Amino acid sequence: MDLAALNAVATAMVAPGRGILAADESTGTIKKRFDVIGVENIEENRRDYRELLFRSAGGMEHISGVILFEETLYQSAVDGTPFVDLITRAGAIPGIKVDKGASKMAGFPGETITKGLDGLSKRLRKDYEQGARFAKWRAVIDIADGVPTWGAIKSNAHALARYAAICQQEQIVPIVEPEVLMDGAHDIDRCDEVTRWILQTTFQELYEQRVALEGMVLKPNMVVPGKKWQRPVSVQQVAERTIAALKATVPSAVPGIAYLSGGQSDEEATAHLDAMNKIGGFPWKMTFSYGRALQAAPQKAWAGKRENTAAAQAAFAHRARMNGLASLGQWSPDMERQQAA
Ligand code: 13P
Repeated sequence: MDLAALNAVATAMVAPGRGILAADESTGTIKKRFDVIGVENIEENRRDYRELLFRSAGGMEHISGVILFEETLYQSAVDGTPFVDLITRAGAIPGIKVDKGASKMAGFPGETITKGLDGLSKRLRKDYEQGARFAKWRAVIDIADGVPTWGAIKSNAHALARYAAICQQEQIVPIVEPEVLMDGAHDIDRCDEVTRWILQTTFQELYEQRVALEGMVLKPNMVVPGKKWQRPVSVQQVAERTIAALKATVPSAVPGIAYLSGGQSDEEATAHLDAMNKIGGFPWKMTFSYGRALQAAPQKAWAGKRENTAAAQAAFAHRARMNGLASLGQWSPDMERQQAA
């Protein structure tokens, strides 16, 4: 393992003013997104949609890395240019989602364990050849009555750490993603408690599995109440609670934090990131690794029609620029009104 090289990639992934585009929806997940805009989930449409993102110069300017689903990593644009080349030319680093999804965890009703460790080393070697320099693995922690349990927390943290160790062995930077879901009616205190629990356990496991923290990126949720929670919580409160939870659990050797959006609205995800960077006082870079919060707007503008390509690219460029500014703590709500050209 060449840790200096891993650290250089991890540092580039969280470079100031830029963040990660999570375009790694599995075939099943992209179907859900396409269903909303009335687009058929066939390979050609998936290619056309992702091509318009990667060819958006205005958007890619603010993107440090792109997480791809396996199909996309090995796919080419209409003119035959491999997607990895388009992404690299745009100045971003290609990455690959390598987990095989969260499935029901035997013995733990209502909880899941993420699959995908079998054969991982071999897959990573092939992905590296194809141009991938980082990977992603997502553990899913739900909040409900009596959930999560220690058994599920421990097993998911362990799998994340084994994945991260294998990535580093193959010279790939692991994005370690323990996601506490924001479904449900729980308050912000409960999210705070569970977020600290999974982060604390994940870093203990990373230590036990000898993962070099300098060569990874953490992708956590923010500390927010569940979507069904009724009382309002301020942007400042989310920012302060998230920073405090991370300070208490994440070692400063980690180069950067790239948050998931997890179902927050586009503007909420931007406002929260911006508020954290305005507060500052933490040892890591803090940026975005958004899926929905970067893509909902371009998907709506595109709606599967070629003639909407430029409008979709403008919508993507706008969200990418807003989040790039938020990663510097330089965003303000009035900028949302000045749609990018
Ligand atoms: P969201 O930002 O839509 O939560 O997606 C990020 C991601 O990669 C989840 O694994």
